[in-house]
Amino acid sequence: MSRPELIKKEIFDIAEYVPGKSIEEIASAYGLDPAVIIKLGSNENPLGPSPKAVQALVDVAPCANIYPSADALELREALSKYTGFPVSNLVASGPGMDGLLDGLCRLMIEKGDEFIVPTPTFAYYELPARACGGKPIFVRRNQDFSLDPEKILEAESSRTKIIFLCSPNNPSGNLLPESSLRTILKNTRALVFVDEAYVEFADRNLAGLVREYDNLVIGRTFSKVFGLAGLRLGYGILPGWLVKEYIRAATPFSVSLPALKAGIAALSDTEHLRKSIEIAREGREYLKEKIPFKVYPSQANFVLVDVAPLRAKAVTENLMRKGIIVRSCDSFREAGDTLIRVTIGTQEQNEKVIKAFEAAKKEV
Ligand SMILES: Cc1ncc(COP(=O)(O)O)c(C=O)c1O
Repeated sequence: MSRPELIKKEIFDIAEYVPGKSIEEIASAYGLDPAVIIKLGSNENPLGPSPKAVQALVDVAPCANIYPSADALELREALSKYTGFPVSNLVASGPGMDGLLDGLCRLMIEKGDEFIVPTPTFAYYELPARACGGKPIFVRRNQDFSLDPEKILEAESSRTKIIFLCSPNNPSGNLLPESSLRTILKNTRALVFVDEAYVEFADRNLAGLVREYDNLVIGRTFSKVFGLAGLRLGYGILPGWLVKEYIRAATPFSVSLPALKAGIAALSDTEHLRKSIEIAREGREYLKEKIPFKVYPSQANFVLVDVAPLRAKAVTENLMRKGIIVRSCDSFREAGDTLIRVTIGTQEQNEKVIKAFEAAKKEV
């Protein structure tokens, strides 16, 4: 028995979100020992969380019966130090940055509104925006994954509410130039959301523009460089006027107490942060040089590999059989079927990845 008539019509238009494969799935699919599997399909931190964050989790465990503070002020103060923005421009979000996207869509998008997504990019933007009745307008990126600000602006209508941009872009790893963002911000009436999930690995960020434009929001996360993906903690840098409205629409207490305390501890561990950035920057150059296929330049903690004329699915499957989890990009809209995204691992993991690609080139 099912009762589909009880479900909103918009929900049936949502494509299933395809996450990276888990160690358990691959161990059971290929009869592998979970201990030998290398997980490089979800852009997590191969160094794990900061030991300071782990200690904070242990310390807070006995307080699990207590709600966290609703305004997450302690974390926002720590974020203020880290970002240079006052707490009046900062919101903490859960689950992860996805929670920030949920809150903004709930706040802004109603039936018949439109939102713009340059493809290929991170798939989640579509989900909450469609669930609120929004209609996606997709704009294809150029061959090198750069985007044309004029094309984005041409796609705007009187119903456009949000333009979702990603820098560095997932899955391509390229940055959005500041000049392109300025062109869009100056000429649109919509809110521009810039997703900077991977920005710590990059040479530049775009957050400073929040001081100049009242229609720019920056999304950030603790899931990547801070190694806290399992805690689902994100934050946003918003123009002051929007913080007040956002808090009205957002889920109260969305940031759990463990996430809040671990986030603060992670921000204080500058050595772990430095090492995490270093390992990604060195690793991506190494992989770019050694993987025996075309590898796009990346400003993130992953690289995009084009295995043409082979198929991404077949190569991914070949690697997974060897216990190396990478992400075939065929589920990303407009990404074609020859692209694979590989998270940068430790040096030892990267060496195994290169060997596996070399073998796959012969075997597939
Ligand atoms: C570009 C991008 N934005 C946002 C997210 C989600 O971040 P969070 O784990 O904080 O929800 C991801 C996760 O992979 C991502 O790649």
